[in-house]
Amino acid sequence: MKHLVTMSTLSTEEIIAILDEAERFKMGKRWKVREQTFIANLFFEPSTRTRFSFEAAEKKLGLDILNVDGASSSIQKGESLYDTVKTLESIGVEAVVIRHPEDRYFDELIGRVQVSILNAGDGCGHHPTQCLLDLMTIREEFGRFNGLTVSIIGDIRHSRVARSDAEVLTRLGATVLFSGPEKFRDDTNPYGTYVSINEAIEMSDVVMLLRIQHERHSEKWTADQYLEQYGLTKEREKMMKDHAIIMHPAPVNRGVEIDGDLVECSRSRIFKQMENGVFVRMAVIKQAIESKAQGGEKKHVHSI
Ligand code: CP
Repeated sequence: MKHLVTMSTLSTEEIIAILDEAERFKMGKRWKVREQTFIANLFFEPSTRTRFSFEAAEKKLGLDILNVDGASSSIQKGESLYDTVKTLESIGVEAVVIRHPEDRYFDELIGRVQVSILNAGDGCGHHPTQCLLDLMTIREEFGRFNGLTVSIIGDIRHSRVARSDAEVLTRLGATVLFSGPEKFRDDTNPYGTYVSINEAIEMSDVVMLLRIQHERHSEKWTADQYLEQYGLTKEREKMMKDHAIIMHPAPVNRGVEIDGDLVECSRSRIFKQMENGVFVRMAVIKQAIESKAQGGEKKHVHSI
């Protein structure tokens, strides 16, 4: 795996290998690059979890990090994303982590650059490392995907998490249910069946809430109105199966898609997801670097 831009480019075996490696890192495995290796982080949209867990992962692997600030780089002078990435490649960067507001921004890069592209979220398109940390969290809980029911509830249409997760969970044998306002329905995503919020809550092993992506559409909801109609209220939490867990990619709008008190309740795995994000990103970066080394693009194989 040289690039990671969508989950559909990974085989099931590759997904399981990344999860296994992430688990080993969580158990204390140590691995660092042997020689100076540069990685660049380009974030053109706000991010807390993805940006800083990538950076934490990079530091744990001993990489030298270049954080490219869109506001003070030559992108402000009109330089294209392609020319920016080619510039980083010329400087000696091995991998570039990119979050970008445009769907499939990576289409202008793949096949034209040698540097590894690691997608940290493209518009409403894909969020592969979020999907991997979600998978790690679910596997930690249940030890399997086959036979599980996972409901994804909320702003399905604008969610790159819903797109990445639904396809892979279905591929791994889970049943995906979607629920949320009619306006947020996504008829281009064939991997889930739409049900009412109460059906989704009652039937699921995993209840995954999504944030309303206010920045991507014009509709406005009051918090109370949304929570009562489409959110996880305390009453609905009581309807969940005994063993069912709550997930959310975050950032969370407390009191909108989920009652604020449920964010840290015993069923919630929301902060566990963030913890797992570091280990999954370590595994992804390691694979990308090793893949480049094996492809002869770098002289020295890294390992410790
Ligand atoms: N889940 C997620 O992508 O969060 P950030 O936007 O903070 O990175």
